[in-house]
Amino acid sequence: MLLQDKVALITGAASGIGRATAQLFSSQGAKVAVADIDDSGAAETVRNIRRSSGEAFSIQADVGRMDSVEAMVGSALDRYGRLDIVHSNAAAYVLGTASETSEADWDRTLDVCLKATWMIARCALPPMVAQDGGTFIITGSVHSIRGYSLHAAYQASKGGLLALTRSLAADYAPSVRVNAILPGAVETGLWKGLSPADRLKIKQMCPLRRNGQPEDIAQAALFLASDMSAYMTGSYLVVDGGLSSIIEMPEWLWSRLKS
Ligand SMILES: NC(=O)c1ccc[n+]([C@@H]2O[C@H](COP(=O)([O-])OP(=O)(O)OC[C@H]3O[C@@H](n4cnc5c(N)ncnc54)[C@H](O)[C@@H]3O)[C@@H](O)[C@H]2O)c1
Repeated sequence: MLLQDKVALITGAASGIGRATAQLFSSQGAKVAVADIDDSGAAETVRNIRRSSGEAFSIQADVGRMDSVEAMVGSALDRYGRLDIVHSNAAAYVLGTASETSEADWDRTLDVCLKATWMIARCALPPMVAQDGGTFIITGSVHSIRGYSLHAAYQASKGGLLALTRSLAADYAPSVRVNAILPGAVETGLWKGLSPADRLKIKQMCPLRRNGQPEDIAQAALFLASDMSAYMTGSYLVVDGGLSSIIEMPEWLWSRLKS
């Protein structure tokens, strides 16, 4: 029971990584505020938690809007009286080069991925500092540290999140520890357009030869949320099966080296 009696607020918890994290935190003794724009998915996460005798409630929130973020944090505090763990995890995903990305898509992606985390921090960190501190976790991506084509807005926001992680860590230490998780390729709702053949190709790019599952990332979140990571702040964990650690050697170079 690594999170006994802790209170956690998790955004994007109606599916994927956020849902797996909410369920794992609950199994470790936390009370969980399950926040998402998708109310029915959030309600399902809460039902899953209650079926396992955990304590949770759902909050419908659009993390891209300040009024909604204020209401979300207020609602978690009203319900549980404190906040020990905040996980800013929701994201909007848009594909495209810079010239293919519309201004509306750019703004929405930056609002939901990057500005949201600042808004959540602005609302949640003062009450956390006023109690006895806590932990703040940010979901970045391997896109935070590696370039990849067709991801101009998403990658800009995920890169910005790493800088924001360091900034929040510096400003709110020692009472709140702030760290990021950078997932690699994880099979979640974000992948709904991908065929089995696409999924196989992604798996083959990964040294561990499997695609990540939401539970793989939830375990890293548990580490960062708990005292197991007590000496970490302003840092990040890459959880990607080795994906970002390698450079694929082109076939022609292999043949040259072997000859
Ligand atoms: N799946 C991957 O391969 C992968 C890789 C790297 C990083 N990530 C990151 O992991 C995090 C979780 O994504 P996931 O893969 O679990 O995808 P997902 O689609 O399963 O979950 C994302 C959740 O965010 C919610 N959401 C979207 N916009 C919102 C808004 N404005 N307000 C509140 N909630 C909103 C969605 O309703 C959804 O429940 C994201 O930050 C994503 O960028 C995912």
